Amino acid sequence: MKKIAVYPGSFDPITYGHLDIIKRGLKVFDHVIVAVACNSQKNALFTFDERVDLIREVLKDESRVTVDTFTGLLIDYVAASEASVIIRGLRAISDFEYEYQISQMNSSIGKGVETLFMMTSLQYGYLSSSIVKEVCSLNGNIDGFVPPEVKKALRLKYRLD
Ligand SMILES: Nc1ncnc2c1ncn2[C@@H]1O[C@H](COP(=O)(O)OP(=O)(O)O)[C@@H](O)[C@H]1O
Ligand SMILES: [Mg+2]
Repeated sequence: MKKIAVYPGSFDPITYGHLDIIKRGLKVFDHVIVAVACNSQKNALFTFDERVDLIREVLKDESRVTVDTFTGLLIDYVAASEASVIIRGLRAISDFEYEYQISQMNSSIGKGVETLFMMTSLQYGYLSSSIVKEVCSLNGNIDGFVPPEVKKALRLKYRLD
């Protein structure tokens, strides 16, 4: 049986930190579904469709990754999918508190879904979509943080070119 995992997030926009988790996830799973959350609570820079398109573009050569979207409870989405594992990345203690709470809540809801946490790679420990947006909006160099397609989209948003 194919081992499939869901990697959920806002991906506003996708960074090398996310891509690192996806690549490492593919060492453990046969297939990873990147699931973009349509979360109305967060005011995103990129629209839902723009975020999905950027991820598809960046991962177009990776046949073992598909990009999907979901609304509502993640646990319901995962239970209805072919996957039974959620992958989440952990950077700092501050990530831990929140992720711990969510994974406990998900396991108490049940549905047999496990959450697998992957520690960030050393070079991406400080990297977040928010920090990339901030640096880019101030016309800083973001080459080391996001793929060229994402950089282009960000600079367009901030009318920098
Ligand atoms: N630099 C990074 N290293 C490792 N994991 C990361 C990094 N940046 C984000 N992640 C992880 O990727 C997932 C999606 O993050 P994000 O797009 O911020 O969505 P969310 O709104 O769910 O936090 C989360 O599990 C987050 O911890
Ligand atoms: Mg986050």
